[in-house]
Amino acid sequence: MLQVKAGLVLHEAQSNTSADIRTKIDMNVLAKPADLEAAAPAGAFVEEVKSVQHYTDRLFRFRMTRPASFRFRSGEFVMIGLMIDGKPLYRAYSIASPAWDEELEFFSIKVPDGPLTSHLQKIQPGDAVLMKKKPTGTLVNDALIPGKRVYMFSTGTGIAPFASLIRDPDTYEKFDQVILTHTCREVSELKYGEDLVQETINDPLIGEFAKDKLVHYTSVTREDFPRQGRITDLIKSGKLFEDLGVPPLDPAVDRGMICGSMDMLKDTKALLEEAGLTEGANNKPAEFVVERAFVG
Ligand code: A2P
Repeated sequence: MLQVKAGLVLHEAQSNTSADIRTKIDMNVLAKPADLEAAAPAGAFVEEVKSVQHYTDRLFRFRMTRPASFRFRSGEFVMIGLMIDGKPLYRAYSIASPAWDEELEFFSIKVPDGPLTSHLQKIQPGDAVLMKKKPTGTLVNDALIPGKRVYMFSTGTGIAPFASLIRDPDTYEKFDQVILTHTCREVSELKYGEDLVQETINDPLIGEFAKDKLVHYTSVTREDFPRQGRITDLIKSGKLFEDLGVPPLDPAVDRGMICGSMDMLKDTKALLEEAGLTEGANNKPAEFVVERAFVG
């Protein structure tokens, strides 16, 4: 008698739980990891958001748990998602944390009617995020041949893979100088990068390498700022090299990595090619690499 009753209670509790899950997913309410675990799509990890920081009405970052089995190279991207209307919806996100970090960090744009980011921007600590199991990408140190100086050219959220690479000791082992350029429309959009570089330089481990080698070069295009203009214009005019006190791009010593909008990638790539640098890939390392994988 008692057992039957206990069985019934258990059964009811189970069916309530799955009804809850279905209602939450259908209504696009953000789920908790334990809820989503039951409905998790195959091939995805269900991770828990640890912290969220909003920078502007267009930009935020979040950190989440990292599965013990998940390995990646600094600079790679992964598919991140949520259950929307009962189905997983993913977008490619560069991992902004370095390979050694025990959590995973992502830097995201907020698109008001974006299918994923309109929901993702509302996540809170404790919420669940889906992540596909296989990272990939070309913005990795292995895809560049050795050189003296590496330029990391970024606009907007394109800084994310470089947030990973500038916190990786391998980058400083490979290059004498690491120049991170970040151009945004507005001054407030530079904040993530400014905090990141400061934290990197102050970090007890990475700071030792970064403080002598890392240069942060910022510009803004749609507001007053000490340095204005697109990175492509700053390269073309030679102002970038004048400001840095370095010679113009030279394929013998300079390496490049590019991450931004499609137009920015195309225009920056053309300038590097004009300077004689050749595009590389994982299976064919060369003098510069380009990445398209971020939500823009
Ligand atoms: P601009 O304000 O002149 O368009 P977005 O948010 O559109 O991706 O832009 C981020 C930054 O990238 C902005 O400062 C923008 O400048 C700049 N940008 C946009 N297109 C290009 C391009 N083709 N080459 C270089 N920079 C670009």
